[in-house]
Amino acid sequence: MKKTLLSGVKPTGRPHIGNYFGAMKQWLDIQSQYDCNFMIADYHGLNFIQNGSEMKDQILNLAIDYLAIGLDPEKSVIFKQSDVSAHTELAWIFETITTMPYLMRAHAFKDAEAKNKEIGVGTFNYPMLMAADILLYDADIVPVGQDQKQHIEYARDTAQKFNHIFGETFKLPEPLIMKDVATVPGTDGQKMSKSYGNTIPLFSSKEEIVKAVMSIVTDSTSEVPKNVYEIHKLFKSEAELSKLYSENKGKYKVLKEALIEDIETFVKPMRERRHELMQDVGKIEKVLAEGAIRANKKANTKLIEAKKKIGVL
Ligand code: TYM
Repeated sequence: MKKTLLSGVKPTGRPHIGNYFGAMKQWLDIQSQYDCNFMIADYHGLNFIQNGSEMKDQILNLAIDYLAIGLDPEKSVIFKQSDVSAHTELAWIFETITTMPYLMRAHAFKDAEAKNKEIGVGTFNYPMLMAADILLYDADIVPVGQDQKQHIEYARDTAQKFNHIFGETFKLPEPLIMKDVATVPGTDGQKMSKSYGNTIPLFSSKEEIVKAVMSIVTDSTSEVPKNVYEIHKLFKSEAELSKLYSENKGKYKVLKEALIEDIETFVKPMRERRHELMQDVGKIEKVLAEGAIRANKKANTKLIEAKKKIGVL
């Protein structure tokens, strides 16, 4: 029997190459080996996007992105979190066995607190919904970037706590984090993130790629522009790059132009596929509707088991 995988992205803006190399590429690489569940984490996204028509567009766009990168609905369950109410129901059950001090250790909470930001209850409870996402499917592995590691630890701890109180029910998931791409840097050298405005969107037009690459911050004192190189490494082998970078020491413009070409070569076929998929929205909606049926079946089986354990069924 195949092992199970679950992962997801929030529909809060265009996916960038950090999302792709940090997580989504791993999904593609192992899609055939695992029983896969790829989720659009719209209820997590609701903490950030509170505008109905924008949410609708973002969900559809992310579903198109999933198919455009090569996720195959014949092989994998592709679904929207809000279509499977077991996620929010199990999150509630988990919240009743979780303490506030434990959730106050979450990075996202601590960051918001350090910035004196008022934190929403949805953001505070975020790790519980994510634990439910993962544990409902008995996921063995969860491919993500480094920034999600703590959330998977929360899922493991919560599974253990539930099992301890109510008896063996949930499987403990493992994160799958690829060392070299655990934290893909953005155009300013910090972690690439929608909220830092330092991204290269995955489905950029050529003009957007040019603009983003030209904006990569370079340090004029070094021969190799580190921030350019770190992004270039995603698209070319280090052997190929070592030749290019040693032949063009200090020539930042030449190196950035080479990076633009390499990103364009990589992105172009996916961009074209995305364009084709956009012509048939009905087909995308059908994929999500079928995904919802399959995901509900799996998730409800597990939820019923948990509800029996807690004594409400
Ligand atoms: P999200 O939408 O912020 O990001 C999606 C995935 O992209 C990874 N990622 C990165 N990896 C490497 N370098 C970067 N610069 C970079 N930026 C983002 C993230 O680690 C993530 O894997 N909470 C999740 C969504 C979620 C989820 C889940 C994931 C909800 N439920 C259950 C897995 C399993 C999130 O906000 O990801």
